[in-house]
Amino acid sequence: MGVHALVLAAGRGTRTRGEMPKALLPLLGLPLLEHVLRAVRAAGAGEVTVVVGHGAGQVEPALAGWDLRFIRQDPPLGTGHAVRTARAAHAVPGPLLVLNGDLPLLRDETLAGLLAAHREGRAAATLLTAVLDDGGPYGRVVRDERGGVTRIVEARDASPEERAIGEINVGAYVFETAPLDAALARLEAHNAQGEFYLTDTVAHLQAAGHSIAACVAADPHEALGVNTLAELADASRRLRERRLAELMAAGVRVEDPSSTHVDADAVVEPDAVVRPFTLIEGRSIVRSGASVGPFARLVDVVVGRGAQVLDHCLLRQCVLEDGASVGPFSHLRPESRIGAGARVGNFVELKKTHLGAGSKAQHLSYLGDATVGEGVNIGAGTITCNYDGAQKHPTRIEARAFVGSDATLVAPVVVGEGSYVAAGSTITEDVPKDALAVGRARQVTKPGWAARRRARLDAAKAKG
Ligand code: UD1
Ligand code: CA
Repeated sequence: MGVHALVLAAGRGTRTRGEMPKALLPLLGLPLLEHVLRAVRAAGAGEVTVVVGHGAGQVEPALAGWDLRFIRQDPPLGTGHAVRTARAAHAVPGPLLVLNGDLPLLRDETLAGLLAAHREGRAAATLLTAVLDDGGPYGRVVRDERGGVTRIVEARDASPEERAIGEINVGAYVFETAPLDAALARLEAHNAQGEFYLTDTVAHLQAAGHSIAACVAADPHEALGVNTLAELADASRRLRERRLAELMAAGVRVEDPSSTHVDADAVVEPDAVVRPFTLIEGRSIVRSGASVGPFARLVDVVVGRGAQVLDHCLLRQCVLEDGASVGPFSHLRPESRIGAGARVGNFVELKKTHLGAGSKAQHLSYLGDATVGEGVNIGAGTITCNYDGAQKHPTRIEARAFVGSDATLVAPVVVGEGSYVAAGSTITEDVPKDALAVGRARQVTKPGWAARRRARLDAAKAKG
């Protein structure tokens, strides 16, 4: 049974502005709080309690799949008050991992190291600290002449000498609960923010004769807290770089990491190529040997082995089977499936359409609610008229049919196997297997008409 963890996420998040609760701001496709929860779980925590307040009505359902205990702190009167509220509602014994909910860069190994340091050091509290060139807005870790931690002072309450300290409080702690509860009871809000600071428990523990241990993070960047939108963007960038570094180490050819984005839960297999300015989002999967981009955006898309997504494509919730090719400039909307070796070309939009293996729709088409068999050619400019103003209707184009350019297929309609549709046709009736359908006005040709017209105009001009 892992240690109990308490994650603090009830703050007002006033510094991020906006309507969205800070805990739900997205990084790499996941809410801020979920990054913290993943690290906590991966570090071996057992039961996890989250203190929520501001925006709790949105935060709780967003994390419904997580098997968490939520405790509400309203109004939020500080991090110490948050822990006190949680302890009052659910006082578990044993060591407690307490963590700020706004630390998306914290690695699970670092938290595991903190837990191990606490187990080995047998102190009443073990703090995670980091050494920065400039401690900025973070709480400073004050040590005595023998190097023992005596207290944490918030930047706003610190003297100039204290502000010069480079060792900061990361916002991750392990406490023994009995001394913690006693220290929490002593907290007062006599400080610059008028809040009950969790950080003040350190001085109370020290005064009560308990020992305090500190564990210094190897990578100080993990301490970056998200309090502003600029910090959110900075943390996003760092997470993105980390993710791309992992992918490249595994054998994914990322041509330009600075312009590439791969979400936390997207999968890119070794030997895939990700070209510049490409976003691979959600639960997308890019298989080995596939190439995506430049300038492509995939949301929940599967790109099969050896498949290609060429320049400037937007693809959402669709599947490209092995060896398929899409783009440049294609728009694939949800529930589309491109069969093995099939090709979708420029300025082609598909919606809820299955294009069979080896079929082609290479230029300027809209195919919606269509099922297209294998080996079909969709001519340039072909449109399925799937919507009658009230309802959507299906189009079926069977194997090896040839649809000439600029055909208009008025659904519901079937173009039979091996049949031909003449260019420029408007098809309103089913086309039988192996038939030719011509659905256009017959051409009228008037020999010499243009020359006679020019002569008439020239004569009128000469008269003035
Ligand atoms: C806190 C620490 C600071 C540390 C920094 C690290 C305190 C007093 N200060 O400052 O020493 O260097 O984190 O990033 O703890 N929260 C609640 N209820 C509240 C107030 C806050 O749940 O009443 C939550 C917030 O949602 C947030 C976390 O606690 O996730 C930290 O609060 P925040 O206001 O961001 O503290 P900092 O000023 O960053
Ligand atoms: Ca913070």
